[in-house]
Amino acid sequence: MTLLAQISDLHLDGGERAARRATRVMDYLRALPREVDALLVTGDIADHGAEGEYEEATRILKAPFPVLTCPGNHDARPAYRKALLGTAPEPGPINQAHHIGGTAVLMCDSTIPGRDEGRLDAETLAWIETTLTELPQDAPALLAFHQPPVRMHHPLPDSCMLEETGPLADLLQAHPEVVAVLTGHAHTAAGSTFAGRPLIVGPAVTWTLRMPWEGDAPADREQPPGLAFHVLDDDRRLTTHYRVVI
Ligand SMILES: [Fe+2]
Ligand SMILES: [Fe+2]
Repeated sequence: MTLLAQISDLHLDGGERAARRATRVMDYLRALPREVDALLVTGDIADHGAEGEYEEATRILKAPFPVLTCPGNHDARPAYRKALLGTAPEPGPINQAHHIGGTAVLMCDSTIPGRDEGRLDAETLAWIETTLTELPQDAPALLAFHQPPVRMHHPLPDSCMLEETGPLADLLQAHPEVVAVLTGHAHTAAGSTFAGRPLIVGPAVTWTLRMPWEGDAPADREQPPGLAFHVLDDDRRLTTHYRVVI
C-alpha cells in the first residue's frame, strides 16, 4: 500500500498565525511512527505570491519524506519557481510528475495568473496525457490540482472553481489508471465524484469554510488546521482519513 498525506491552503503571509498552523501540521506528520510515503500540498501555499512567503514555506515544509506541491490562485509562478523549486522564475504552468511507491502522482497547475477560477490549459492537458500514456501498464495514477471541478454548494468556492472541465472528463474516460482526483482551494474537507472518479478535497490549514447552513461568515478561523491521509491499496482503492491537528 501507498500512504500519502495531503495538506492545502497554507496561505503563508509572513505572519505568526499562518506559520504556527502550518508548523503544527508538519510537526504532527514528522512525528508519525510510520512515515508517510509523500506529502501533497495542493496550492495556496503563499498568500500573496511573494518570494519571502515561499522561503518561509521551504523552511516549514522541510521533511524526511518527499513533499510534492502544486500552485493555487494565491500563488505566483515566477516566485514559486525561484524560491520553492530553485528553478528559473518562468511564467508557464508548473506541472510535475512524481513516482511514489509505484503510483504516479501528477501535480498539475490549474491556475490562471491574476484570476481565482482555474483551468487546465492546453499545455497542461497535453502534459497529463503524455505523462499517463508513458506510464508502465497497470501503474495507478493520481491527479492533483488546486480548484475542484465540481460545485461545493457554497457561493465562495463556487464562484471560482475549475472551468472548462469537459477535456478533463474526456481525459479521465480514456485513462482508467487515474484512481482519483485530489484538490484543495475550497477550505473544506469534502468528497464528491467527477467523471466517475472519486474527487477528494483536502481541508485547509489556514481557515475552514463555514457552509451556508452553518452561518453567514464564510471563514471559520477557530477550527484547527486539517489534513488528509490517502491510502492506496494493492487493488487500487483509495481510502481517505481526515484529521485536524489541535
Ligand atoms: Fe485557499
Ligand atoms: Fe485557492
